[in-house]
Amino acid sequence: MKKPDLGVEVGGIHMKNPVMVASGTFGYGPEYAGLIDLNRLGAVVVKGISPWPTSGNPPPRTVEVASGLINAIGLQNPGVQGFIDQYLPFLRGFDVPVIVNIWGRTVADYEQVAERLDAVEGIAGVEVNVSCPNIKEGSALFGTDPDMFRRVLVAVRKKTRLPLIPKLAPDLANIRSFAKTAEECGADAISLINSIPAMAIDVETRRPKIGNVTGGLSGPAMHPIAVKLVWEAAQAVRIPVVGMGGIAGPADALEFIIAGATAVAVGTANFTDPSTALRVVDGIEDYLARHGLGAVRQLVGSLQA
Ligand SMILES: Cc1cc2nc3c(=O)[nH]c(=O)nc-3n(C[C@H](O)[C@H](O)[C@H](O)COP(=O)(O)O)c2cc1C
Repeated sequence: MKKPDLGVEVGGIHMKNPVMVASGTFGYGPEYAGLIDLNRLGAVVVKGISPWPTSGNPPPRTVEVASGLINAIGLQNPGVQGFIDQYLPFLRGFDVPVIVNIWGRTVADYEQVAERLDAVEGIAGVEVNVSCPNIKEGSALFGTDPDMFRRVLVAVRKKTRLPLIPKLAPDLANIRSFAKTAEECGADAISLINSIPAMAIDVETRRPKIGNVTGGLSGPAMHPIAVKLVWEAAQAVRIPVVGMGGIAGPADALEFIIAGATAVAVGTANFTDPSTALRVVDGIEDYLARHGLGAVRQLVGSLQA
């Protein structure tokens, strides 16, 4: 029997299968290249890049909670030039689209990174992180204030021809309107959701378990929330949606696809089982064969409500 077609287009990026690895959970590639075959991934999304290098937040920066993880890394990264010099040459050696996640404290920061990335070879797209809960200024605000969200997207759009994928905050009340605004501002796709603002306290010491006091919750604990938001966002726009949040196996990814996501990203699960994304690819293929579907595209948004 012919193998099901796993190929998808995400805002002009051709992916051989719909499974990416989520920003911040896969480093810049070399960290995982000895563990899995990067060429088998749909795309690699690298850790958030800013105009300048930054060392992030004080430790502890992660804590495990029931069915999840709270992190406040603080967007540690080598800066855009550091990424281009240290990591991009390595990533260019693979047959996998590289999507660069970007962030900044001001609109000008976002513009600067987008413009710099536009000028180099080997980048398939830009994911615009307007939704990180772990830095004090900038990023998260751009994702929760509609005017700032629009301003940053319009500005970035002018600076790059690369496909733009705004990454939405897990805004429970307004996800549809943020999704629509992204589309109006020229986004080629949207991705959601980022980790959910969260906190954990050590009751013996009465101290926060995270150096930054608050962080972002990710992993299975957030999965049903993410599925609902992806389902809502997908109905609001025509551009493709990338769904993420708590994928630990094929069924979790299939939920996002049935809810309307064209592609998915595996995040926190990479830390405990680096083969998760590849297991998800194989599981989607099995599912399509079992259900007599010739292409994963047929499954997108196929929820029987
Ligand atoms: C340690 C860690 C670092 C992250 N760093 C980033 C980042 O730099 N940029 C970003 O947009 N999202 C970042 N995220 C969010 C993930 O990309 C993803 O949206 C979120 O974790 C939900 O997916 P998951 O439950 O599969 O991890 C990070 C998540 C974790 C756990």
